[in-house]
Amino acid sequence: METLGTFAHLAEEIAREAGEMLLAKRPARPEVLATKSSPTDVVTALDKASEELIRARIKAVRPEDAILGEEGGSTGDGRVRWIVDPIDGTVNFLYGLPDWAVSIAVEVDGEIVAGVVNVVPRGEVFTAARGEGAWLSGERLRCNTGVPLNRALIATGFGYETGRRKIQAEVLAHVLPRVRDIRRAGSAAADLCSVAAGRVDGYYERGPQVWDYAAGGLVATEAGARLGGLNGGAASPELTLCAAPGLFEELHDLLAPLDPERDA
Ligand code: IPD
Ligand code: CA
Repeated sequence: METLGTFAHLAEEIAREAGEMLLAKRPARPEVLATKSSPTDVVTALDKASEELIRARIKAVRPEDAILGEEGGSTGDGRVRWIVDPIDGTVNFLYGLPDWAVSIAVEVDGEIVAGVVNVVPRGEVFTAARGEGAWLSGERLRCNTGVPLNRALIATGFGYETGRRKIQAEVLAHVLPRVRDIRRAGSAAADLCSVAAGRVDGYYERGPQVWDYAAGGLVATEAGARLGGLNGGAASPELTLCAAPGLFEELHDLLAPLDPERDA
């Protein structure tokens, strides 16, 4: 019988194996294999190798499941779908910065039920199963609560296209004077886990894809955070927001009038 624990356990095993492979094979200076949405949106051979390994492991155990991966797109149409980012934070991976992660989520009938984010260089594997909490190294995670916006440390990220970044910079110019400070770690999955672990108070970003936020989003919500978009909508590539209830609404109300979902 499938249980949430089974999915979380399998996702964790696979994310750990992919992380070990990446650590073992990462050259001192990984080479850019291709670019995607812009010349700075890169993919390395190891993004592809990681996704291939993850797909092979899923298929070996659950051949009927659908898989959506950042590099390989969508395959299959089962009611169980695995959502995979083989390396989230590829630019950090390229430069040898420590915030990059293997992110794997499991969705059943459209609902994310398990999520694992392996922040490989830090040796930190964040796990969550719906209704069963979020965990790091045997410790249950709880996001920070009761932090007002003007004391909040807020993580964000930027897209790869110039027109998008122009607006993101405008929005940031409004946010920065109104919060404690901003962090740009370079991995949306790791940012959401940082909300869960209380290392930042909140996160917002225009543009993350479902493979960037599916697993980390569950880790954050299972740690007590709220995840969503503008005006009661779900988290999406238009805008993804995450923080404890209270701060979530304050951040939302700061962002909404800035029309942060547009691109130049
Ligand atoms: C990116 C990272 C980054 C975020 C970008 C994402 P990638 O993913 O999550 O933090 O700001 O929006 O595209 O390209 O490294 O897999
Ligand atoms: Ca990503």
